[in-house]
Amino acid sequence: MISGRRVLLAVTGGVAAYKSALLTRLLVEDGAEVRVILTESAHHFVGPQTFAALTGSAPYTKLFDSDSVSPHTELARWAEVIVVAPATAASLSKMANGLSNDLFSATVLAYTGPVLIAPAMHTEMWEHPATARNMAILEEFGYETVGPESGALAGGDEGVGRVAEPEQIHEALSDLLGTRPDLGRLLVTAGGTREPIDPVRYLGNRSTGKMGHAIANEAAQRGYDVTLVTTSNLHADPAVNLVEVETAEQMLNAVEQVDMDVAIMAAAVADFRPAKKSAHKLSRSEGLDSVELVPNPDILESVVARDKRPLVVGFAAETGDVERAVQKAKRKDVDLLVYNDVTEPGSGFGTDTNRVTFVNRDGSVDPMPLTSKDEVAAQLLDRIAALRSLDS
Ligand code: PMT
Repeated sequence: MISGRRVLLAVTGGVAAYKSALLTRLLVEDGAEVRVILTESAHHFVGPQTFAALTGSAPYTKLFDSDSVSPHTELARWAEVIVVAPATAASLSKMANGLSNDLFSATVLAYTGPVLIAPAMHTEMWEHPATARNMAILEEFGYETVGPESGALAGGDEGVGRVAEPEQIHEALSDLLGTRPDLGRLLVTAGGTREPIDPVRYLGNRSTGKMGHAIANEAAQRGYDVTLVTTSNLHADPAVNLVEVETAEQMLNAVEQVDMDVAIMAAAVADFRPAKKSAHKLSRSEGLDSVELVPNPDILESVVARDKRPLVVGFAAETGDVERAVQKAKRKDVDLLVYNDVTEPGSGFGTDTNRVTFVNRDGSVDPMPLTSKDEVAAQLLDRIAALRSLDS
């Protein structure tokens, strides 16, 4: 089960690095999302362009001077699995000893998920007690190993230390990923509803669905059975059940069909809609003095009122006053509220980043720094996991 999984491939500096290009192609063909770290020494054996062409994005190479403030933690949070192939003796040593002096080692140190290592080195190095000790430590960490095999080595030598073939690494990775844990059913609403005035015009808002889609994708990766009810055509993980809607009423109807253990209401739902939708395009000559509005259903309220109430997370798009969000959390009776100030640069509508404050049921607040919406999604799901474990 590699399709749709997020694989971080770390290519370290040995001649076997060329085989990692073949491995990358296998993974991409199998539907995995692959990001590649190339260490400095790997550059002596393979070029970044090869991996960029295979994955569609440039490999990650630097701990400093990259666009990201913290590339190692971002990659570590993104990855569902790290594959180190080829893993040189030096890279085994770095991992076993907890070094963090380059992007590769810092990312592995910042990572808490499964790691698969494909060692490659000369027989003497593989059999050296230092390598044996490092491997024993890595095994203790729970890291999995594939290979090394016996056969032709660099420089015409023969012996144990040849990296496992790409197909073997692919198979070991499939076994390692296995099936995802079943975390239950999770609903996400996303995007801004569009309330039609006529077949052409609508009342809407500036929500793009980025926040909600980031949550749905992260939740699917973690093992939730996700239904995403959205007005947006942004990317959704293939594992997500996607329901596309346009209006608040359609969103409510779709949500009513979903059984859920957790509901995350990230959509910006129009509170009002035009009382009448003209069947034909209104022309300027007909004139339109006013648009009569009627209230839309409160979808979040309908979820909270269910007999089998799920854990409910609301969002609040406010302008500068966290106290209003605290009051909203109480009024809406949610288990957690995510407040974002939509006037703050880099936050709220349409941005790739968000600065949120988590408002807890007891009214306490946890302000978070500005970060990517993917990271907000990860932090939110961590909090939901903690709340659910308190419940059980
Ligand atoms: O989509 P992006 O461009 O990434 O932008 C993200 C976002 C700013 C839209 C998102 O982070 C956000 O704040 N979403 C909620 C926006 C909002 O409409 O908040 P609200 O205060 O109006 O509503 C409070 C809660 O009730 C929300 O969870 C909302 O989904 C829900 N609601 C509101 C009205 C309604 N009729 N039904 C609802 O379910």
